[in-house]
Amino acid sequence: MRNRQCLSGNAMRRAPSAPGARLEGYPNPKKSLLLLARPGQALYFKWVSVLPEQFRAALGHWPSGVSVVTSRTGSTPVGMTVSAFFSVSLRPPLIAVCLDRHAATLAVIFASRFFAVNVLSIAQSNLSDRFARTEESLRFDGVALLEHAGARSPLIAGAVLNLDCDVEAAHDAGDHVLCVGRVSLAFVQHGEPLLFHASRYHRLAPLNGDRG
Ligand SMILES: Cc1cc2nc3c(=O)[nH]c(=O)nc-3n(C[C@H](O)[C@H](O)[C@H](O)COP(=O)(O)O)c2cc1C
Repeated sequence: MRNRQCLSGNAMRRAPSAPGARLEGYPNPKKSLLLLARPGQALYFKWVSVLPEQFRAALGHWPSGVSVVTSRTGSTPVGMTVSAFFSVSLRPPLIAVCLDRHAATLAVIFASRFFAVNVLSIAQSNLSDRFARTEESLRFDGVALLEHAGARSPLIAGAVLNLDCDVEAAHDAGDHVLCVGRVSLAFVQHGEPLLFHASRYHRLAPLNGDRG
């Protein structure tokens, strides 16, 4: 088998190229799957035990937007930076975020039963850092909020999208909790979304020659 020199060891198979091709022995509940490829070569896979840091680095290849998920305990706002955000349903309007089960913000969301997703613009990478690293009680210092009577969670001004949500469901997912939110209010502001990829912030750019 080509590539054997770089993949010797554990059970190794050539990845199926045709739709419907079977992966012998898949899934193996005891091991994780690590895909290995070199430019111009076929893709191979190998059963390994993936360390959390390796898994995090592998997932860094997936680009995402950056949001701050907010809620309130009494009049005190809370929030944390979240890239694990996605749309779920149009009817009813559902979205989901995936939060560390130990996050202080998650405990507040469980108590309040509401949260907001604030999708950051390229001018707000400082807020992404702040809502991930700064002490919780200082995170909202100097942060401008949108005033809207119907919104229960803090809505961050300057975000390209604010979604005010009720907790529809929460599902345990390993060391995280998948929170599904039913959107009750949505504010859209024109602007460039902040992107996160391979541990760095980026901005959108059209492909060469792509005029949309
Ligand atoms: C760019 C970026 C994306 C992040 N995405 C997530 C995420 O999707 N889910 C999560 O639980 N933590 C994520 N974090 C980490 C949390 O923001 C961080 O652990 C935060 O301190 C949790 O706050 P809390 O415990 O005070 O609520 C991310 C951090 C950064 C910088």
